[in-house]
Amino acid sequence: MSDSLKQQFRAYAQGSSALHVAFIGIVNGLFEALNTMGFADATDLARRLDLDTAYVARWCDAAYAFEYLDEQDGRFCLTERGQAMRPSVPQSLMPIAVHTMLGAHMAERAAAFMRTGVRPGEQVVAERETIIPWFGAMLEGNFAPLFENTICPAVPAFAEVNSHRGFAVDLGCGNGWYLRALARRYPNLHGLGLDGFAENIAQARRLAQAEGFADRLVFVEGDILADYELPERADLIAMNRALHHVWDRRAVLFPKLRSQLKAGGFVVIWEPNWPSERALLRDPSRKGMAFQNLTEHIQGNHLLKADEIVAAFRQAGMPAEVYLFANGNEAVIVGRNV
Ligand SMILES: C[S@@+](CC[C@H](N)C(=O)[O-])C[C@H]1O[C@@H](n2cnc3c(N)ncnc32)[C@H](O)[C@@H]1O
Repeated sequence: MSDSLKQQFRAYAQGSSALHVAFIGIVNGLFEALNTMGFADATDLARRLDLDTAYVARWCDAAYAFEYLDEQDGRFCLTERGQAMRPSVPQSLMPIAVHTMLGAHMAERAAAFMRTGVRPGEQVVAERETIIPWFGAMLEGNFAPLFENTICPAVPAFAEVNSHRGFAVDLGCGNGWYLRALARRYPNLHGLGLDGFAENIAQARRLAQAEGFADRLVFVEGDILADYELPERADLIAMNRALHHVWDRRAVLFPKLRSQLKAGGFVVIWEPNWPSERALLRDPSRKGMAFQNLTEHIQGNHLLKADEIVAAFRQAGMPAEVYLFANGNEAVIVGRNV
């Protein structure tokens, strides 16, 4: 094996260690606390966050090594990189660290389940108590900027629904960021988000309240395929990275979506766009998608091609239009109840 190949893989390993150290600091509030305190030693930092001092002391050494912290007379402060890991800063690097740790967990599970073929489902994502509270914020950090800056202006359905004071529903809403982004941009919209995971709904309600949208946005726990009641027929039903979770029930889902829409209403699906040829997975922008597809298998899912989604709309009697973003890797498919 060549030395340069070894060096390349050592650099990969060091990159993942850097993100693992960051993850510990993010989920235990260390970056934010150091920002507030300015300079602190490990004992004061541990006391402030009610953490174990010996663990915090070792984390400070590791965070110093990876240049998240500087040190003076035994007291630490954040470097520029450390500041960038604070979850509350704009464009925070937090989603990258959380995503990497979730990836490590899912890879370990895939390695074990491959021996038996077991596919336990969604609950595997939620197994780690430190990761799951960050799941919604990770997705928001990764995808809200693309939605707000690029997708919203390019897809006319949103503005049209806003123009007649419409009702938007988000199925599999996570922490509710998508409806919050719509409410911010479109003052006449009101909405309902539904998710099967109680932690997501609790976060969605809290965040909507904090942004002053409690009167316009409602969040309920429930299953996308169950018989839940909408207060009125929807003008727009969105599903973001949720369709692939229920794709095996598409024969039931698509007619159900149509029946929940007003005449002329829209279904707006956003999914990673699985490429038509395997060779395209080698592109750096798609390697992450290939890894996600491997770990989705644990949950009983696989990633979809935009054309498959268009075909499902067609089968339900709905014409659909495809919008591609991010090098064609993100597909928004808009079906209409004509
Ligand atoms: C990848 S996350 C996407 C979350 C959110 N739409 C976003 O873009 O951030 C998929 C979401 O779908 C939810 N979900 C999956 N299957 C579901 C089902 N059958 N009923 C309700 N929610 C479901 C999960 O709880 C999870 O929050």
